[in-house]
Amino acid sequence: MNGAKQKPLLRALAGERLDKPPWWLMRQAGRFLPEYRALRTRAPDFVDFCLNPELAAEATLQPVRRFGMDAAIVFADILLVPMALGQKLSFGEDGPQLEAIADRGAVERLRKDGIASRLEPVCETIRRCRAASPEQTALIGFAGAPWTVATYMVEGGGSRDFLRVKSWAYRDPEGFQALIDLLIEATIAYLGIQIAAGAEALQLFDSWAGVLPEAGFARWVIEPTRRITSALRARFPEVPVIGFPRGAGLLYERYAAESGVTAIGLDTVVPLDFARDRLQTRLPVQGNLDPVLLVSGGAALEGAVNAIRTALAKGPFVFNLGHGVVPQTPLENVAALARLLAEPL
Ligand code: CP3
Repeated sequence: MNGAKQKPLLRALAGERLDKPPWWLMRQAGRFLPEYRALRTRAPDFVDFCLNPELAAEATLQPVRRFGMDAAIVFADILLVPMALGQKLSFGEDGPQLEAIADRGAVERLRKDGIASRLEPVCETIRRCRAASPEQTALIGFAGAPWTVATYMVEGGGSRDFLRVKSWAYRDPEGFQALIDLLIEATIAYLGIQIAAGAEALQLFDSWAGVLPEAGFARWVIEPTRRITSALRARFPEVPVIGFPRGAGLLYERYAAESGVTAIGLDTVVPLDFARDRLQTRLPVQGNLDPVLLVSGGAALEGAVNAIRTALAKGPFVFNLGHGVVPQTPLENVAALARLLAEPL
């Protein structure tokens, strides 16, 4: 067995059952950590912060240093890909803002070359993190999945109803496909350079997978993911890809069967019995504690953690949240979670 495979996260993603589940938390680097808030003042613009390898590597390692997770996830953002494609991006008080793309002409005006060189600082962050991480800590690279990234590109930021992006996809599927195709190619290139720089596993965040009906889900969620996983598998057969189709509900099963991901991230509302019987029989599962339980803490947190472990720890399993850590999370609750997960069930 080679050294890298002995890292608990990689063993679980390769299909092994472990007595103590490896764990990490989506969005584990960020505002709930006082040391992150302090670091963040050194580059007030969030995009500059992401593209500064010294600061981004430090942010990546901060949660691992404090809590000893089994994985670090490189500090970056899913919206760096639209930025690298030439779309104007800024982060304000109300989250990300992009200059919205509305039609095929705007897709054609995006820059298709030089994505790798504009995202090279993320690779430098990865090299620094690999050099400085503890031996048992795996380093996860990531990207947004094409559908989720497209929602931000077309809506110009976050959205409640996804009116613009869905109506474009329904009205002009061929034109919208041009945007998705561009994102598929960019994502394959971006994840490929992350692996070359040292990322040992990948996660594809499809945070808005759950807003599409089945036919749209098949075309805009499953098919782009399948094209990305098959291109990566051909070049890097050893590197596991965790897919996170948040909100997919019953369509989780089709995603598990058809997207080609190595492991599947469960959102908070996926029932544990369904995950065990219909998903974990096919691939390793990751999840799915409600992030709000990490805010409230106490007996409810302990009960929910034990229920998740009881249901899922008999097969290949990575403990995580069902969505990202929220900024209001008390540090002591994350420390309590780390202690709970270190105990045998
Ligand atoms: O530990 C980590 O995971 C840090 C790396 C990371 C960030 N964003 C840093 C970040 C990762 C993996 C992401 C993913 C991401 N970004 C997603 C997918 C996961 C999810 O939450 O659904 C999405 C949809 C985005 C887009 C994005 N970036 C939004 C909507 C926002 C603003 C709202 C928010 O969640 O904070 C961001 C900003 C952002 N990305 C912050 C961080 C730490 C906060 C900005 C700050 O520090 O000022």
